[in-house]
Amino acid sequence: MSSNNQVKHMIDPDDLEKNPTNNPHIHDLIAMRTSRRSVLKGIGAASLAMYGGVGLSACNVKDDKRFISFTPIARSTADQVKLADGYQFSIIGALGDPMAANIADYKNDGSDNDWDNRMGDHHDGMEFFGISAAGQYDANASTRGVLAINHESTSFNTVSSHFIHVNGGKTSLPRPAAEVDKELSIHGLSFLEVQQAGGKWQANRSSALNSRITQNTLVDIGGPLRGHGALKTKFDPTALTGRGTLNNCGAGKTPWGSYLSGEENWAGYFARANGDDRNRDAKANSGLSRYGCTPGATSYHGWETAGTSDKYTRFNVSAVGATELDDFRNEINTFGFLVEADPINSKNKRVKKRTAMGRFAHESGAFGLPKASEPLAIYQGDDSRNEYIYKFVSTALWNTADANSSDVLATGDKYLDSGKLYVAKFAGNGTGTWELLSTSNPAVQNYPGFAFADDADVALFTRIAGDACGATKMDRPEWCTVHPNTGEVYFSLTNNSARTSATVDAANPRAYTSGSRSGNVNGHIIRLKEGVGGNAATTFTWDIYLFGAPASANKSSVNVSALNDAQDFSSPDGVWFSQFSKLLWILTDDSAQTNQTNSMLLAAYPGKVGDGGNVTINGVNTKVGAKATIGTLKRFLVGPKDSEITGITETPDGKTMFVNIQHPGENTPASAINNPGSYSSQWPSNMGYGQGKRPRSATIVITRKDGGTIGF
Ligand code: FEO
Ligand code: CA
Ligand code: CA
Ligand code: CA
Repeated sequence: MSSNNQVKHMIDPDDLEKNPTNNPHIHDLIAMRTSRRSVLKGIGAASLAMYGGVGLSACNVKDDKRFISFTPIARSTADQVKLADGYQFSIIGALGDPMAANIADYKNDGSDNDWDNRMGDHHDGMEFFGISAAGQYDANASTRGVLAINHESTSFNTVSSHFIHVNGGKTSLPRPAAEVDKELSIHGLSFLEVQQAGGKWQANRSSALNSRITQNTLVDIGGPLRGHGALKTKFDPTALTGRGTLNNCGAGKTPWGSYLSGEENWAGYFARANGDDRNRDAKANSGLSRYGCTPGATSYHGWETAGTSDKYTRFNVSAVGATELDDFRNEINTFGFLVEADPINSKNKRVKKRTAMGRFAHESGAFGLPKASEPLAIYQGDDSRNEYIYKFVSTALWNTADANSSDVLATGDKYLDSGKLYVAKFAGNGTGTWELLSTSNPAVQNYPGFAFADDADVALFTRIAGDACGATKMDRPEWCTVHPNTGEVYFSLTNNSARTSATVDAANPRAYTSGSRSGNVNGHIIRLKEGVGGNAATTFTWDIYLFGAPASANKSSVNVSALNDAQDFSSPDGVWFSQFSKLLWILTDDSAQTNQTNSMLLAAYPGKVGDGGNVTINGVNTKVGAKATIGTLKRFLVGPKDSEITGITETPDGKTMFVNIQHPGENTPASAINNPGSYSSQWPSNMGYGQGKRPRSATIVITRKDGGTIGF
């Protein structure tokens, strides 16, 4: 997040470490017993045939567009959105914009109310759901749809979300209820109808399809933790429901047309009293601390201090009552999941927490290519330093008729509430295994660090089950995405300040110093190819597709992918394949290269696992992809100051792209709120959008000036 220590958040919610284990690094791993020779043999020939040669192979000639057509743009530190020549953008919805009829325009001076009917803050993961003239979901509709948008967080450097309060709000505890009420509403989800008319995209601000999910919205608990004792609270002693969804970061779209939203740094919203460990058993204590909720933990915003109503006190998870039915000690256990929503019926259908897919700092949920009569796979990353990569494999086999489901949450019940959860273990030779997270796995059942009672316990304390399996500690797994043709899975590993030369391994091979930073400073993108069994495979092969680095960095130790000035980047965060162009879009959330450039969006045409070779980086042997060329990796967009580029989706015809500009100006100190000249960004008011000069997160819509398809 911030690069400036003076005005940095008191903590960086996107850069956490909670993994205390001594899990082996992958060079300690013994060789797999599976037939990796045959797996590797298959890769070489196939990759050469498809991507290595001069012409296109017979395979996917029609679909694969080999050349990215636009001219790359330069790095930029301007307080503007810079876009490749031939493209244009406008803003379709920013923090505070009305989402219902009769809501006043956003004044952007801290005085605005009606936050349950305004866009939330820190726009993040996002998907477009086309709708027909009759208002039904239509997977092929490209001129009208609902944007489902995550509102991850808010800019703050004391407890107060200063851009939404008069004078920046109160910077100490206890928090005023009126301020906290606003903050509870700016977190969550937006569903916003958008349409193209006369060549221009606009939000339909009074659409009946618009809705907000806030921290006061009733939500359903699904999967193995539905009704579970560890989720019972004073609010719902049956543990069938909870309230809200928090810190929603990455997203996903199911093959049946619902929206997935990942709860990321939820743990930081809860306070826990000093000494609370004395009121809990050892198991509950170790479960809480593995997610960072240690005794004495303070919350980001102090919401728990705003009054006696349980809409505030629920954020204090101390065991203060006689039983769990008398307090909110279990409230935190209702967060940490992938959440499923019906984007077209979001007003009437409660979102559902899909607990079978595990509880951690979720980013996106990306589906393996669905195949008829085979299980579905959902890939997921846990974004904290040294956390893990996961895969969920559904019990139900894919029925292609479900792509036209009339009740998407019922279809979600079928595929997402029962299955096998795996964690990734990478070996140094370019292979890896998916380790089963279940008490049927002796490594989990007999783990001395934690007594798992059953697989509901695994769903609740997923990180600890990963520890038990010796999962590979990764450099902060952010988003993942699946190549629409090859099915290979790309994970961005954004950076890791805790990686050292003592803990580097083949999958996380870099630890270096750059200015005041050390570790894996600039991040990389790793990709996996499933072995026998496809979505249900328990083995895979992998390589490192790209290393982030400044172009000027040393090419043997840092800029290992030999990036040039038109394509260098740092801290890859979002990764997303266009279903139309098959281009990989890379979104960055950088604070390491900010002297040269703001965060950006790049387009890539990647090859496949095994198309590169072996390299040795400071003595660490690893597998890398073929180097990008100027034709296969290009910078497309650079954002305004202090922003992160995140959230990307497209209309099915590939002609309209939606991108989120998150937290411009987040380094502005609360004390400067009445002095716009000291804001670190004034975007988007500096492009003429809206009132006031306070910076605002926003969704932009990008089209080609000639009406063509995006990227090629
Ligand atoms: Fe919310 Fe890990 O980015
Ligand atoms: Ca960020
Ligand atoms: Ca992010
Ligand atoms: Ca990030």
